[in-house]
Amino acid sequence: MSDSVFASVVQAPEDPILGVTVAYNKDQSPVKLNLGVGAYRTEEGKPLVLNVVRKAEQMLVNDQSRVKEYLPITGLADFNKLSAKLIFGANSPAIQENRVTTVQCLSGTGSLRVGAEFLARHYHEKTIYIPQPTWGNHPKVFTLAGLSVKSYRYYDPSTRGLDFSGLLEDLGSAPSGAIVLLHACAHNPTGVDPTSDQWEQIRQLMRSKGLLPFFDSAYQGFASGNLDADAESIRLFVADGGECLAAQSYAKNMGLYGERVGALSIVCKTADVATRVESQLKLVIRPMFSNPPIHGASIVATILKDGDMYTEWSVELKAMADRIISMRQQLYDALCARGTPGDWSHIIKQIGMFTFTGLNTNQVAFMTKEYHIYMTSDGRISMAGLSSKTVPHLADAIHAAVTSAA
Ligand SMILES: Cc1ncc(COP(=O)(O)O)c(C=O)c1O
Repeated sequence: MSDSVFASVVQAPEDPILGVTVAYNKDQSPVKLNLGVGAYRTEEGKPLVLNVVRKAEQMLVNDQSRVKEYLPITGLADFNKLSAKLIFGANSPAIQENRVTTVQCLSGTGSLRVGAEFLARHYHEKTIYIPQPTWGNHPKVFTLAGLSVKSYRYYDPSTRGLDFSGLLEDLGSAPSGAIVLLHACAHNPTGVDPTSDQWEQIRQLMRSKGLLPFFDSAYQGFASGNLDADAESIRLFVADGGECLAAQSYAKNMGLYGERVGALSIVCKTADVATRVESQLKLVIRPMFSNPPIHGASIVATILKDGDMYTEWSVELKAMADRIISMRQQLYDALCARGTPGDWSHIIKQIGMFTFTGLNTNQVAFMTKEYHIYMTSDGRISMAGLSSKTVPHLADAIHAAVTSAA
């Protein structure tokens, strides 16, 4: 061993989120339950490939005119246009005025990274404010891109809801021009979103201070079941004519996780600026991954450009969102039925893939040890990993954790 040139490389810790699955895979118990990773599962606990996705793939395979040439640096042009339309709305003036540049990237993560690298090179303010808490990868992505990361208050553990006054105070004291990362909907990990009125107040504050919004949209359509409703926050900011960035992922809403399909859009004040911004985005992308993969983006473009397939997608998407919403209700009912101490109404109030249970690290460890239930140590559970069959087991575990593992 000692003769390896890498002998001094130390063992790195598992990723806090993906590591949950590693531990789950090692568990031999027949009742084990993985509520760690944010991927949709059917009532039978199986991964789901949407019918409309299968159909689009079949069409692509059957089309003999298709080749495997490289895409341009910015990706598939149709995909980019349709992605912008999906997130900003079909009648968005920003799109009509050619003020938006959209580039295809490697899912949500890659879009965030490309956006952040662009900002680190070309934007005068290098500090990005991220919510506390947020998706664990955010600080790493932004730091490695060359931005300096600070946080703003977001979640209030005492109400298990939004710390709105803390949020306003922290953004209010951020230096003017600072970048602010906002979850467009279905905030991860808390499942707590601002109301429309609160979004409007956030917008006014941010615009008055010249703070630059960077939206992370990983769950459009997945939160409420409605693609337009879940894009409302972004559209509110775009409607005022100001600038912003948006990172889109098709991992959850089209179930294309491993295809790595996403887009970064930058909304600018003028078409001329947008063109120059795009030219610089190419310089970020070219040495990073040269150009994005063709298959997943072709699936998305096929679905988005065909009226019937789009409708079929929205129906399948709503079914996924509805199943998650019904899991919330079932878990809440099961805890009420057991008389589990505490107020569990946040389970039905929170939105999106995750419930931030409020369970502490000890309680999480207890549930893993005694009930073979796996989740991140902050008490976040993926509602998509639950089914009517597994809700009673989870409710028993939470009840036992709350009553015996303080
Ligand atoms: C808030 C948030 N942003 C971005 C992502 C990125 O996901 P992906 O890179 O798979 O699109 C996720 C995935 O869990 C997420 O929860």
